[in-house]
Amino acid sequence: MMSVTELRKNDLSEALPALAKILQACVASGASVGFVEPFSIADSEAFWKDQVFPEVIAGRRVLMLARDGRHLAGTVQLITGMLPNQLHRGEVSKLLVHPDFRRRGIARLLMLALMERAEKAGKSLLTLDTRTGDMAEPLYGSLGFEVAGSIPDYCRSPEVNSTSLDATTYMYKIL
Ligand SMILES: CC(C)(COP(=O)(O)OP(=O)(O)OC[C@H]1O[C@@H](n2cnc3c(N)ncnc32)[C@H](O)[C@@H]1OP(=O)(O)O)[C@@H](O)C(=O)NCCC(=O)NCCS
Repeated sequence: MMSVTELRKNDLSEALPALAKILQACVASGASVGFVEPFSIADSEAFWKDQVFPEVIAGRRVLMLARDGRHLAGTVQLITGMLPNQLHRGEVSKLLVHPDFRRRGIARLLMLALMERAEKAGKSLLTLDTRTGDMAEPLYGSLGFEVAGSIPDYCRSPEVNSTSLDATTYMYKIL
């Protein structure tokens, strides 16, 4: 049975190993989500521990998890802590589904839960960026996100020693 929940502050450390595995597996399978190979489990754990958890604890970020029974299958974040002139905006970050759990509607479920949570937080605008041409682009489109535009040479391809640069597409949705 699939369930999507918001991770509570007290449960962060328990979820760390599974979160680290999901991100590491996504990067290893070619996802462009901020990191380049080589990217180890230890690198992945450090990202969650040092950059994500403190923001969740500070209440500036919401971390959602999708579980298939006892397995952690996917995750997404909503960045809520914005500067004073854009408190109505939320940013979608790190939508990740473990390669073993793809094409079962988990990303869609995570995004629907995130959009509901964003509305509850009083957000009226969501923004995100995703590598141009990735499979996430049609997914966001089907959830009502509009393309704002594309920026060339935005980020390095994740493969080891790659020097090629990929474009990113900025998208937004008015809630
Ligand atoms: C992108 C990602 C989150 C999709 O997760 P998922 O759980 O497999 O997605 P869903 O099953 O909810 O698919 C929803 C829709 O997305 C699109 N989609 C997802 N994977 C696709 C694929 N491999 N090829 C084409 N379309 C795809 C389809 O429109 C799909 O709807 P459908 O199955 O009814 O045709 C997942 O592939 C992933 O984690 N990729 C690596 C990380 C990443 O790139 N994240 C996005 C960062 S912006």
